[in-house]
Amino acid sequence: MRAMARQHSSAAWPLLQRRWLLAIIVMISLSTLIAFFFRSGIDPCDRTVDQLHQKLARVSSPTPPVVVVKAAPSPLSFMKSKRVLLISHELSLSGGPLLLMELAFLLRGVGTGVYWMTIQKPAEEDDVIYSLEQKMMDRGVQVLPSKGQGAVDAALKSNLVVLNTAVAGKWLDAVLKENVPHVLPKVLWWIHEMRGHYFKLDFVKHLPFVAGAMIDSHVTAEYWKNRTHERLGIKMPETYVVHLGNSKELMEVAEDTIAKRVLREHIRESLGVRNEDLLFGIINSVSRGKGQDLFLHAFYESLQLIQEKKLQLPPIHAIVVGSDMSAQTKFETELREFVMLEKIQDRVHFVNKTLTVAPYLAAIDVLVQNSQGRGECFGRITIEAMAFQLPVLGTAAGGTTEIIVNETTGLLHPVGKEGITPLANNIVKLATHVERRLTMGKRGYHRVKERFLEDHMARRISTVLKEVLAQSKS
Ligand SMILES: *[C@@H]1O[C@H](CO)[C@@H](O)[C@H](O)[C@H]1NC(C)=O
Ligand SMILES: *[C@@H]1O[C@H](CO)[C@@H](O)[C@H](O)[C@H]1NC(C)=O
Ligand SMILES: *[C@@H]1O[C@H](CO)[C@@H](O)[C@H](O)[C@H]1NC(C)=O
Repeated sequence: MRAMARQHSSAAWPLLQRRWLLAIIVMISLSTLIAFFFRSGIDPCDRTVDQLHQKLARVSSPTPPVVVVKAAPSPLSFMKSKRVLLISHELSLSGGPLLLMELAFLLRGVGTGVYWMTIQKPAEEDDVIYSLEQKMMDRGVQVLPSKGQGAVDAALKSNLVVLNTAVAGKWLDAVLKENVPHVLPKVLWWIHEMRGHYFKLDFVKHLPFVAGAMIDSHVTAEYWKNRTHERLGIKMPETYVVHLGNSKELMEVAEDTIAKRVLREHIRESLGVRNEDLLFGIINSVSRGKGQDLFLHAFYESLQLIQEKKLQLPPIHAIVVGSDMSAQTKFETELREFVMLEKIQDRVHFVNKTLTVAPYLAAIDVLVQNSQGRGECFGRITIEAMAFQLPVLGTAAGGTTEIIVNETTGLLHPVGKEGITPLANNIVKLATHVERRLTMGKRGYHRVKERFLEDHMARRISTVLKEVLAQSKS
């Protein structure tokens, strides 16, 4: 099956659309800030982008002219006249703060009064923080200092306080002091991590007394229940599992055949990978926990397998998106040395860290999610890849097991060294069975449409907020 069934002559592209595509391409090389909108929540104020998107949707849709359907009321609309205070441990372009910002924008979208505090800020000016705060203020989020009487008053006046990540727990005693007991009953604690060093009483001693905890996957929630009980002797509050969802912007690119084709061609050309070659991508910041080393070992093994079995396949390539050579870590060096040693430089491509994942998702054929240890808490890149109709080869750990249906939307392999050979076999399997690979990708896409969209996430969050608000009143 060909992915591009419909032919579009270039004359059919209106100028606007070409400009939009060009903008994406420019973004790939530009600052991550500009690209931020790919990952952020809906932006009802951002008219120009909206109009371009609508135009693009109309042109590229297989069913001509799209009737603009009036959006259903947001499940969060009951939050309209409420005040919500969001506490972020830091402000950067990393998963935790960005997710909290998405919540801020969803709430602003229904008219909630949203207040934001960042606990840890560097002493010197920081461009990223400045831009993110500006972006929030543009959308009506009130950015406040995280300390002092103003912070205490804001907390006391709010209907709901959302603490983001375990570390944010430090803020309670440090800032609220004797007011802690007044605020705890309206705290919703959003937890996205499961590494050992978060299980410290310093961070989480107030956890049993808050209105609720919201956690990104069932495995992570179970882990927290177990660890708080066994390690710290404390009990989790009412705990809600909320799987995340893809932003509307990401879905728009994922569902746009022309945009995807242009991005695919552009990225492949820049890497020297031909259209018919098979590209396996791992998109995560480079670190041992994310398993890029084990992936490259598996990739090398799959090359050997293909050679031994004399399989007639198009050349396979690996791309590692998420490098940061300026950090000069031992691990980065180790990856490159392995590639040199095995002489697979022409098959392995390293790309710097970026928030603009869409072009890479458009360019690859299979996503590899190789997080080690307990795996990902959720692992958002997995649902983003599925939106692009990509099958996923993932470790059988953490949230990944709640996203991937083994053998249906992807294939699971064990964590650790034991996973290398199974992953190599799975790489060869998907390289060999084209039809199966494409079917898996389609099934993954349908799974995303059924449960991993922003609307689904908003609905899940709204259920939690209703319960937490009811509880804080009682
Ligand atoms: C918690 O985890 C430990 C170690 O993984 C395990 O031995 C124990 O049975 C678990 N406890 C519960 C209550 O699940
Ligand atoms: C990637 O990052 C390194 C180190 O920070 C830098 O030298 C290099 O120019 C970057 N490459 C691209 C394509 O931006
Ligand atoms: C995934 O499915 C394959 C084939 O049925 C099976 O061998 C493997 O154990 C399964 N993995 C997990 C983690 O369920």
